[in-house]
Parts: sequence; structure tokens; C-alpha cells
Amino acid sequence: MRKKITVIGSGNVGASCAIQLAQKELGDVVVVDIREGWAAGTTLDMYQYTPVAGVDAKVTGGSNYEATAGSDIVVLTAGFPRKPGMSRDDLVWANYDIVKGTLEQAARQSPNSILIVVTNPLDPMCHVAYEVSGFPKHRVLGMAGILDTARFRAFIADKLGVSVEDVQTLVLGGHGDAMVPLVRYTSVGGIPLTDLMDADTIQALVKRTAGGGGEIVKMMGTSAYYAPAAAAVQMVEAILKDKKRVLPCSALLEGEYGIQGLYMGVPVKLGAKGIEQIFELKLTDEESAALNKSAAGVKEVVDLMEPKLAEVRAARG
Ligand code: NAD
Ligand code: LAC
Repeated sequence: MRKKITVIGSGNVGASCAIQLAQKELGDVVVVDIREGWAAGTTLDMYQYTPVAGVDAKVTGGSNYEATAGSDIVVLTAGFPRKPGMSRDDLVWANYDIVKGTLEQAARQSPNSILIVVTNPLDPMCHVAYEVSGFPKHRVLGMAGILDTARFRAFIADKLGVSVEDVQTLVLGGHGDAMVPLVRYTSVGGIPLTDLMDADTIQALVKRTAGGGGEIVKMMGTSAYYAPAAAAVQMVEAILKDKKRVLPCSALLEGEYGIQGLYMGVPVKLGAKGIEQIFELKLTDEESAALNKSAAGVKEVVDLMEPKLAEVRAARG
């Protein structure tokens, strides 16, 4: 039987996700949006794309959550993107209600699904998804690290004039400007980056990576979507094909890296169960300090939401 994937939100990220999921034949795709006609129309267009592309995937859409019942994976992209001058954290109250409202319905329809959160502010919204769904932590995770590492990989490949495929790296921490690109874990075809580039050039690319989302918002007036959608689809593929890929994702930390009860970007093993392992690295003092700074930023936003999260927990019983 084909797998079933729900994408909540048929905006820029959601639509890009849906078409890429179909293109990769990962399963049938149901897209839900409050803009019912838009979701129905764009998905009809996508379904009509499948014969031309030569792929078999039914793509449907609308505003009805019953159509999502029994999904294996739910990708949450509904919510406001930032505008120039805004931080991701500025979206917290606008998107809190959207994440809560949509996931209450989606989780009810697909109680055994795995939730992949994309909506910003990413790590805090993972907390909302975790509390609202009541799912175990290995079935609620967030997409950010794959995108952030992809940006670092692209900048390095461009600078060195090499294939993006040969650049391996890791970005830890919250999905904000305090994220932590790890130079020590960066290599090009197995060669340490520090053997190929001087420290000032590396630091300039680290800085550009941390501000990589904002760079695009400034140009477009809204946020990126092709790379973010591809990153979410890579997570879906790893799970549905039980690939056991090692990828940076936002996961609930309960003591790992000395961080308690906070969603943060860390390397995880992604397979059929969702997050099957969290990899803990031995960080230098400087890296640990940067991670703790990033965690403090995420915690500040989560603490603001805590009274509402407590209500959600109490209502769930
Ligand atoms: P968009 O405005 O193009 O699309 C958002 C969609 O959500 C719209 O179609 C809107 O109708 C829908 N929506 C709003 N309220 C809804 C509700 N209650 N129920 C169902 N649908 C609803 O925005 P976008 O560019 O697709 O970005 C979506 C979100 O993803 C934003 O919060 C953005 O910041 C975030 N994002 C995160 C990352 C990341 O790395 N985690 C990357 C890119 C975008
Ligand atoms: C980005 C935003 C949208 O990094 O989170 O592109």
C-alpha cells in the first residue's frame, strides 16, 4: 500500500514540499489549507503534472482534515513567514494559534503519524506540536538543520569551486541567528575545511550561514522555500524508507548536551520510528558556549509560551 503524507499549508513551502514529494513518489499527498480553493486548485494542478513527469502519486487538497486520516507523516508548514526586519521569534504569537489549531485536528486524524514541523519560530513551534499532539518525542521533530547545513555547504562549494555534494558539515543549535555552524566537523571530500581556506574566509561564511534566511527575506520580502521544502522532503524520505540517515534536526533534548527539556538542532538518526538516536558530540568550550547561547534564545521564547503550553497539557490530562 502507498504511504500517505499530509502537508498542512499550501503556501510557498507547503506547495514546494507537495510537488517534491510527488516527484519522488514517496506516497500519496494530501494538502490542507484554510484557503480551501487554493489548496484544491494547486493540488489538482500538481496531480495533472504527474502524467507529464511520469510519476505515480495522488495529490489532493482542501480544508478538510478527514481527508488526512491515517497519514504516516504530517509536515506542518502553515503559518506566517517573516517580512524584512522581522526575526523568526517575532512570529511566535501569530503562529502559535495556527500550529495549535491545525495540529489538534491533524493529530486526531493520524494518531500514529510522525510530525515534521517547519513553521517558525521553529524550535519553539516544535514544543507546541509536542504538547498539542501528545505524541512521544521521537515522533515530533523539526526541520532546520538540513537547511542551515545546506546553506553552509553551498557557500563553501561556491567559494572553492567544487561540487556541493562533496561538502560535509554540521550546524547545531536553534534555528536562529545564534545557530552554531561547526567548522571542526566540516570537510570537503574528506579534507578538513581548515586545510583549504583561511580562518577569515571561513568566519565570513559562518556568519553568512547564520544570517542565511534573513539574506533571502531581504531580497524577496518573504522567506525561502525551495531549499526548506527539499530539506523537509529529505526527512520524509529518510523516515518512509527507513534509511537511518544521520541528519541535523530539531529534537527534544532531555539531558543531551547538558540541555533539559528544550527542542534544539542536533544530529539524529532518522528511520521508520522517527528519531531513533540522538548523537552527542564532544564539543570544545567555545562550541559549548555558543550552543548554550543559542539554547538560551530558544528557552526565552518557550518560557513566554509556557502558560499556554501548561493549559494544553492540562486539557490533554
Ligand atoms: P506562506 O505564507 O507562503 O504559506 C503559509 C500558508 O499557511 C498559507 O497558504 C496560509 O493560507 C496557510 N495557513 C495559515 N493559517 C492556516 C491555518 N489555520 N490552517 C491551514 N493553513 C493555514 O508561507 P511559507 O513561505 O510557506 O512559510 C510557512 C512557514 O514556514 C512560515 O512560518 C515560515 O517562517 C516557515 N519556514 C520555516 C523554515 C525552516 O527552516 N524551519 C524555512 C522556511 C519557512
Ligand atoms: C529560513 C527561514 C524561513 O531560514 O527560517 O529561510
